Amino acid sequence: MTDQVMPTYARLPVTFERGEGVWLWDTDGKRYLDAISGVAVCSLGHAHPAIARAVATQAGRLLHTSNIYRIGLQEQLATHLCRLSGLENAFFCNSGAEANEAVLKIARRYGHHQGIAALRVVVMERSFHGRTLATLSASGNPRIQDGFEPLVEGFVRVPYNDLAAVAALNDPDIAAILVEPVQGEGGVRVPAAEYLPGLRAIADQRGWLLMLDEVQTGMGRTGQWFAFQHSGIQPDVISLAKALGNGVPIGACLARGIAAQMLGGGKHASTFGGNPLACSAALAVIDTLESGQWIARVAALGARLLAGFKTRLGNNPRVVDIRGKGLMIGIELDAPCTALVAEALARGYLINVTADTTVRLLPPFILSAEEETALLDDLSALITAYTAR
Ligand SMILES: Cc1ncc(COP(=O)(O)O)c(C=O)c1O
Repeated sequence: MTDQVMPTYARLPVTFERGEGVWLWDTDGKRYLDAISGVAVCSLGHAHPAIARAVATQAGRLLHTSNIYRIGLQEQLATHLCRLSGLENAFFCNSGAEANEAVLKIARRYGHHQGIAALRVVVMERSFHGRTLATLSASGNPRIQDGFEPLVEGFVRVPYNDLAAVAALNDPDIAAILVEPVQGEGGVRVPAAEYLPGLRAIADQRGWLLMLDEVQTGMGRTGQWFAFQHSGIQPDVISLAKALGNGVPIGACLARGIAAQMLGGGKHASTFGGNPLACSAALAVIDTLESGQWIARVAALGARLLAGFKTRLGNNPRVVDIRGKGLMIGIELDAPCTALVAEALARGYLINVTADTTVRLLPPFILSAEEETALLDDLSALITAYTAR
């Protein structure tokens, strides 16, 4: 490994050079099943022909102009995302953290609009919203904040999935809630069915914005286009990134109502945000997801995987919990299990461990029946052997 790349990541000693569908090949020609989809990015698998074609065609036509001009593909993408989400307008950027920056700037503007000079946003314990200064300050993980003080002010933290804690807040400077519909980095935590409707009711009562971080849950990952659609509520603002471009960097912030009016002329910008190349990828992603009816498949496939792991590992006393929503699956062990990642890699599987003790799977939507069984059998065997030591 070269010293010329900053050592910010604890990288595994493998380099991939080619992908196809759910498979990746390393530089020695060894094949791996990618059960984390590049951390919830490549939901349609690697080198998807329709996306590759759209990106290659666009690259040969026009990569970038600037947001000082109209961008036809960006307008088309905004129309599709609003149709699918029920929100009203979109700001485009390049990543999840940047999308959440737009979300937080909407909240600040909304606060000023309401006459609150020092607005506060309710955020959750164990949450993850990104690594920029504002988004790491919003995140509920002291490890990513350590050494970056002073943190950005204006956040009030409460436990996740605890409506009473939010209802008990009595601070006139609060004007918004930012929450993940399912916590990803925090350990694949699925809240109770009444959580989002409860937050919506509190937000309505108090005049707060309900802002959802759908960076990981969005674009079908939980079995609906957006995770909030399981609960029948409508948020005021959402952030998207990860799977929106299936690997081409693009993020978005969608808003409705008064929130949709907060970022007017000159209030926000991003040089690359929503450029023709990124939008061509996202449009191909939406077209492929719709024409292939892939999202309808996610709930059933996810339920089968969850049930399959419960059958194989449910009686293991060292497995604390097996949980998930759609194709976000967490298998929590009773002790840190980061070593499992390298063991799975040696066996040809890409998995992830989050929150120290939870094996996280984020498989592509296109997993075949054969690949599904192999993943269930081989990963369960690995976990069984690991916990027997
Ligand atoms: C819920 C959530 N929000 C925000 C982010 C940050 O996204 P990015 O790494 O694209 O900045 C992530 C990344 O894991 C995420 O899971």
